Amino acid sequence: MKVLVVGGGGREHAIVASVAKSQKVEKIYCAPGNAGIGQIAQCVPIGAMEFDRIAAFAKEEAIDLTIVGMDDPLVGGLVDVLEAAGIRAFGPKKNAAILEGSKAFSKVLMKKYGIPTAAYENFDDAKEAVSYLEQLKEEDFPIVLKADGLALGKGVLICQTLEEAKEGVTAIMLDKQFGCAGNRLVIEEFMVGREVSVLSFVDGKTVKTMTSAQDHKRAMDGDQGLNTGGMGTFSPSPFYTKEVEDFCNRYVYQATVDAMAGEGREFKGIIFFGLMLTQKGPRVLEYNARFGDPEAQVVLPRMKNDIIEVMEACIDGRLDEIDLQFEDNAAVCVVLASDGYPVKYEKGYVIRGLENFEGKEGYYCFHAGTKLTDEGIVTDGGRVLGVTAKGGDLKEARENAYKATEWVLFDNKYMRHDIGKAIDEIS
Ligand code: AMP
Ligand code: GLY
Repeated sequence: MKVLVVGGGGREHAIVASVAKSQKVEKIYCAPGNAGIGQIAQCVPIGAMEFDRIAAFAKEEAIDLTIVGMDDPLVGGLVDVLEAAGIRAFGPKKNAAILEGSKAFSKVLMKKYGIPTAAYENFDDAKEAVSYLEQLKEEDFPIVLKADGLALGKGVLICQTLEEAKEGVTAIMLDKQFGCAGNRLVIEEFMVGREVSVLSFVDGKTVKTMTSAQDHKRAMDGDQGLNTGGMGTFSPSPFYTKEVEDFCNRYVYQATVDAMAGEGREFKGIIFFGLMLTQKGPRVLEYNARFGDPEAQVVLPRMKNDIIEVMEACIDGRLDEIDLQFEDNAAVCVVLASDGYPVKYEKGYVIRGLENFEGKEGYYCFHAGTKLTDEGIVTDGGRVLGVTAKGGDLKEARENAYKATEWVLFDNKYMRHDIGKAIDEIS
């Protein structure tokens, strides 16, 4: 089989690495890919939003399966374009990817189908949003404002006071700080608890969850600093207990897939359930319509199944035949970023030591922002590499991952030193 993966970050490197293990695959392409992906796949210089060029390439090369890794092309309808051209694709169509593309949509869906989530109101008008905020009581704060559309994970403001919240409404809805995502606003109850990411395969009817993971979104140790795309992850999450899993099996996972089908929006692909474990029980924080980044970097290396077999079962509606299995171990991913991320950082520094990962079982160096130049592989983004290591348990995986972070060097290398530290609380 010939497979094309669309995207070029650490998540897509993890997907390509998984695809490369499949017995069924002879050749892998990636559009646009990156320097690390280029070592196991053929990168093609086509952007993820160039739908017509992607479709033309897939036709020309007789690609058997195209896997769309990123949110923007999914929400924009790349899978619809590919299917219309007769190309087999993995990922939700546009009318289902809205589950991630519109927070207002997902909130209405959850309310209609009784899926547990934070209380909320949706607004199209800034004045109405402000009036709503003004009638809240002091104990209703902090309150959460969310721009409706995709905003690189940054469209969420947690406001401590009425003043802050009003400024937030202006920034999102009037100044359009997050672009047209700010045409609608969700105002949501603030929830307290631990976050868990549960990714799942979905075939329109059946949902099979993968092993759990937890992300560290803030830039600095101790969960301080700005929100980022993710500074590290670990899997499994020890906080995702059997009790939590049973609750979500009963009220969240299947309920979401059935709700989408009930709305005439059959979902095939990956649903990423962002959960918050509150004192009142698990609540859905958000949905994504794709693998998490960097959740994929700890979940996929632990998956025992042939990823192509699972994806084909999703497309063909026979996921119920698949016995999804994960290794009984743990993995930790530490992101090596450029100092200054997520605000301002320099690029173009040579990365040394990548060869240290060669032949090391259980260690992975997933590339995110890297580029191949005449000088060698250089830094080319805020998040540069994701160093993943497995271990018998989380503690061992964490020690291994931090050891491996020392194998690679580049100027302005920055990382958090407490990825997976939360696990100490329970061990
Ligand atoms: P989202 O893009 O919806 O996942 O939001 C990004 C981050 O904001 C989440 O991972 C949470 O850390 C935080 N967040 C979002 N919604 C809430 C909420 N209702 N209560 C508390 N924190 C939230
Ligand atoms: N790591 C969070 C996300 O992929 O949205």
